[in-house]
Amino acid sequence: MHKSFIENIKKRRSQYALGKNLALSQAQTTELIQAAVKESPSAFNSQSTRVVILHGEHSEAFWGLVKEALRPLVPADNFATTETKVDSFAAGAGTVLFYEDQNVVKGLQEQFALYADNFPVWSEHASAIAQFAVWTALANADIGASLQHYNPLVDAAAAARWDIPSNWTLRAQMPFGSNEGAFSEKTYIADSERFMVFA
Ligand SMILES: Cc1cc2nc3c(=O)[nH]c(=O)nc-3n(C[C@H](O)[C@H](O)[C@H](O)COP(=O)(O)O)c2cc1C
Repeated sequence: MHKSFIENIKKRRSQYALGKNLALSQAQTTELIQAAVKESPSAFNSQSTRVVILHGEHSEAFWGLVKEALRPLVPADNFATTETKVDSFAAGAGTVLFYEDQNVVKGLQEQFALYADNFPVWSEHASAIAQFAVWTALANADIGASLQHYNPLVDAAAAARWDIPSNWTLRAQMPFGSNEGAFSEKTYIADSERFMVFA
């Protein structure tokens, strides 16, 4: 059935109630994520985005590392709340870690000195576009996800655990899984505040 692009992007929402009951296999989910990243644009087609896909126990281990990184920072009285939140991400089927390769950024700065200041910004844009593409692709495969930012807190522990190259910088984490709850209602500011149209 044909679905419009707007219908596809409307399906993408923040899902915090995740489970492990996916219709897609790990291999199919990997393929979907990889395709979404590969088809995302980047400045000068530099393809600076790097992605680590953690399925099953690897994803659970990642959220365990987040929990341990947070433990010394969160007051003991509040830690149960933090733990519940982190556990809700671990309850999913997997997590996508989005990195940007700083060697690519540096290479572009050397090659195109005129745009040197722009490349770090464009690298962030490329990451954001890839995040959106993956999130939307997952949503349209009936896989719920949310966007998290436990970087730079968890960077060193994750790098050690999965042998991540030192030139990759962690930008975002996307826990995903089966949709186990309703989405919250979404509000929109007035179009008049956002758009200027001249016709
Ligand atoms: C750049 C960016 C950063 C975000 N960071 C977080 C985050 O750290 N934790 C979180 O739970 N959601 C985060 N979100 C999700 C937003 O809160 C969410 O997309 C927004 O409230 C709209 O809801 P929706 O995703 O259901 O459409 C982020 C979204 C964007 C685009």
